[in-house]
Formats: sequence, structure tokens, C-alpha cells
Amino acid sequence: MSEEQFDLVIIGGGPAGYVAAIRAAQLGMKTACIEKRKTLGGTCLNVGCIPSKALLESSEHYALVTGKLQKHGITCEGVRLDLAQMMKRKDAVVRQLTNGVAGLFKKHKIEHVLGTGKLKEVKGERKTVEVDTGSGSRVLVTSKVLLATGSEPVELPFLKFDGKRVLSSTEALSIPEVPKHLVVIGGGVIGLELGSVWRRLGAKVTVVEFLDRITPFSDNQVGSELQKALAKQGIEFRLSTKCTGSQDADSGFRVKLEDLKTGEQSELECDYVLVSTGRRPFSAGLGLSELGIETDKAGRVGVDAHYQTKIPGVYAVGDLIAGPMLAHKAEEEGIAAVEIMAGQAGHVNYDAIPNVIYTWPELASVGATEEELQEKGVQYKAGSFPFMANGRAKAMEETEGFVKVLADAKTDRVLGVHMLGPRVSELIAEAVSVIEFGGSAEDIARTCHAHPTLTEVVKEAALAVGGRALHM
Ligand code: FAD
Ligand code: NAI
Repeated sequence: MSEEQFDLVIIGGGPAGYVAAIRAAQLGMKTACIEKRKTLGGTCLNVGCIPSKALLESSEHYALVTGKLQKHGITCEGVRLDLAQMMKRKDAVVRQLTNGVAGLFKKHKIEHVLGTGKLKEVKGERKTVEVDTGSGSRVLVTSKVLLATGSEPVELPFLKFDGKRVLSSTEALSIPEVPKHLVVIGGGVIGLELGSVWRRLGAKVTVVEFLDRITPFSDNQVGSELQKALAKQGIEFRLSTKCTGSQDADSGFRVKLEDLKTGEQSELECDYVLVSTGRRPFSAGLGLSELGIETDKAGRVGVDAHYQTKIPGVYAVGDLIAGPMLAHKAEEEGIAAVEIMAGQAGHVNYDAIPNVIYTWPELASVGATEEELQEKGVQYKAGSFPFMANGRAKAMEETEGFVKVLADAKTDRVLGVHMLGPRVSELIAEAVSVIEFGGSAEDIARTCHAHPTLTEVVKEAALAVGGRALHM
């Protein structure tokens, strides 16, 4: 079989892999990106970030016309949900973006090798990657390989995904009808975002969470305020509750639950179950163990500070390695790894990676939580400011939530910023920049923010760190 020669072969065309491919091409490397899906963009563009945000946006519009607009003096009559059109639009958004990545590949002369890649052989500098194309195989030879095969949803042993009633996030993005009762197992990011979509469209939604709080990794205060806001929207929460099994019922399904505090057993009847209890790195069939590349208990590939695995010249990035499973983290790592390969100083600042939950209100955060600072014994000052006291938020009729700035008690350096509120997914960028540049709460407080904007809440929270918020 003939061999094809590349400077870099990337396995996986998600945010980690495709962005790395573009950066590599910019740096003059002849690059191939093996992706088994017909479309590029990985989980994020195809069945993750983008379709979920498209549905969140559409369902938010529906919530506006069916309720929220009344306070603005706008009454909408004859409003009808066209779910098929909503899904069609979502699919079109995905198509446009995945086609866009294909266009970028063409522009940069990156080859999308369609098929499943396997690291076959390593002989010093020479690495061989075999691609199963479905109808045959290709052999790519290179000195550098970047593994970027992402992650997959975790299944519960007694609630196996069937794609029809027991859904992973992928199927929950395309339910053909509004569920009567959607039970969501796992009160993390996916559960809350997709639970919000279907709640807004009219489903009864119950979120079952193992722990005594939702969004376990977020700052406690913003997490519990988010729960209150979602409960007001009608989402029911069963916290400290374990799902112990399921059985068929007239309505579709009966989910068995156990209250972890009281031991009480109960059941929920529903027509759909979304299992969103986390994702795990995906490395099946990559040929890692054969070559001695180790994964930890969670399935993550071990890398050094330069994203290099145990084998020189074989790198790994994105959901496949440790760290938060986020598209922007994956992209930054892809870029850094390729720059390091090219002899540049690629770097990711893990203290400045924003986290956003695109519910309404949105939750956005960067840096340390109050709980983390307390655990580490760091002396800090906190300043908070509510959207309720912000002119723009009032004008928008979107006053839920607040911004909290945490700064070092001695140096005033910003250590963490946590937000709940309207479009805080956009506001968090300011906090990320300040943390990236090692800035202080005073820096934010002395920066001129346009009036009237939601960004003034960030300034006021920074002023509050020094006890001098102006509008409180
Ligand atoms: P992936 O995007 O998973 O890409 C890996 C690619 O590798 C896949 O396309 C797969 O087909 C391919 N592949 C795997 N094995 C092989 C092989 N052997 N050969 C060839 N190809 C292979 N993150 C955010 O930051 N913001 C969000 O709003 C957000 N929303 C999300 C919503 C949902 C419903 C989900 C499920 C995830 C969301 N995420 C979000 C997480 C985000 O999608 C991931 O963190 C991101 O996609 C990881 O990028 P990656 O390139 O590492 O992996
Ligand atoms: P998650 O880790 O965010 O949440 C899982 C939740 O399920 C946790 O609260 C956990 O305590 C709970 N849980 C685990 N086992 C359980 C059980 N048996 N019964 C009840 N609850 C249980 O995982 P999720 O929501 O599946 O998302 C996976 C990843 O995808 C996230 O970690 C995130 O990185 C990424 N993502 C990011 C988004 C964003 O940035 N906006 C959106 C969607 C996904």
C-alpha cells in the first residue's frame, strides 16, 4: 500500500483538532486531519455547543413571546410552536458552521482524511497512522501526531442509551415532540441547558442530582441562585437523590429513585430520560495501549507540560486529556501544542479559562471560587453587585442575578469572578482579560464602562471589593 507523507497528522476534527490543523498550516506544516464524521467540528459543532445554543436561543424567543413580553406591554396571540422548523434552523446553523470549517481547510490546504485513524507504528521519528476509510485503508507517515479524539457521554448501567426514550445529549437535541415529562439524570451543564430548552417549550422537567447541589464545580452562591431561578421557571429538582433503576411503564418509562438522606424510595413516570452524568475521554481503537501510551482511571491520556505523551512526537489535547471539557480549552491546547512542535512558546493559562452555563439567567465564571479560596486558606475580599440595581438590566426587564469579584486581600489581584445574569456569557470576557493580565479589582473599578450597559455591574462589583459601590 502506498504511503502518504505529512509533517503533522491529527486524529480528530473537533475544536482541538481542527483549530490545531489551521494553526499548523499557518506555521507551514503539511497537515492531515483524520475525522471519521463526514463533517468537521467534532462534538462541539455537530452535537454539542452549537446545536444546543441554537435551541437555547430559539426556546428563549418562545419563552419571550409566550410570557416575558407581556410586561413590556406586548401581547402575542396565536403563537404556535413549529418544532420541526426550530430543528431545521438548528440543523442549518450546524451545517453552515461545519461547512465553514471545511472551507477553512481548503483555504489552508489541510487534507480532511475521512475515516477512523489508528496510531499503528512508532519507529523513532517515523510514525505510521492507518486510516480505515470504510471502503479500504490509507497509510499516513509523519514525524508528529496529535491525538484529539475528544470524549463521549457516560452511560448508566441500568439506563442504557437507546436513542428513543433513554437519551444522551445527542438525541436530546432532536426529540421529535415536546416531552410530556422529561427526567434529567445529572444536574450539571448539559442537564440544565437541555432541561431549560424543553421546559421553555412546555415539557415538565425534573432534574435528579446525586449531590445536594447543582453544578458542583461552580461557586456555591451562584450555583444555588441559578437553581432558584430555574425552579421559578418550573424545573423541579430532586437533589441528594440517586437513580437506582428503571422499568417500562404505560407513559414510557418509570425511573426508580432513592433519597440519599432519608433512604426513601420513589418513582417518576416519564416519556423521556436524558442521562447527563458526565462525559469520558474517547480513545477506543486508537492503538494507545499497544504502543504503551497510558490512560488514567478516567480514561485521560497522560501528557507533559508540552502536551507530549510518553512517546516523543505524539501529542494529545482537548477532552482527551485532563482539565475541563470545554471547546475553548480544547482550541487553546491545540494551538499551544502545534506552536510547541514548531519551536514556539505555546502556552495555556489554566487559571483564566471561562466557564459558562447558557441557561437564562446565564452563569459565567473564571478563576477560583470562594470555596476553593477558603479551602486553600487564601485571604480574600469579595465584592458583589446585583443586576436589580443596574439601569440597563431594568430597561431589559432582566434583573435576576449578580456579579461577584474575589480579590486577594493584600494585593487586590483578581482571583475569581462569578456571575449570574443576562448575557453574562459576554460579560465574563472582561474578567478573563483582567485575570490574564494579573490585574486588580481596582483596575476594573477605575476602568470607564459605557452607560447604560450590563457591564457596569462588573465595575460596581469591583468597586464593592473596596467597599465603595456607587449605586448600592
Ligand atoms: P471533540 O469535539 O469530541 O472532537 C473529537 C473528534 O474526533 C470527533 O469529531 C470524533 O468523531 C473524532 N474521532 C474520535 N476518534 C477518532 C478516530 N479514531 N479517527 C478519526 N476521528 C475520530 N463546550 C463549550 O466550551 N461550550 C459549550 O457551550 C459546550 N456545549 C456543549 C453541549 C453539549 C451537548 C456537549 C455534549 C458538549 C458541549 N461542550 C461545550 C463541550 C465541547 O463540545 C467539548 O469540550 C469539545 O468539543 C472538545 O473538543 P475536542 O476537539 O477535544 O473533542
Ligand atoms: P457534568 O459533569 O457537568 O454534570 C454531571 C452531573 O451529574 C454532576 O452534577 C454529577 O454530580 C451528576 N451525577 C453524576 N452521576 C450521577 C448519578 N448517577 N445520578 C445523579 N446525578 C449524577 O456533566 P454533563 O452535564 O454530562 O456535561 C459533560 C461535559 O460537557 C461538562 O463537564 C462540560 O465540560 C461539557 N459541556 C459544557 C457546556 C458549556 O460549556 N456550556 C455545555 C454542555 C456540556
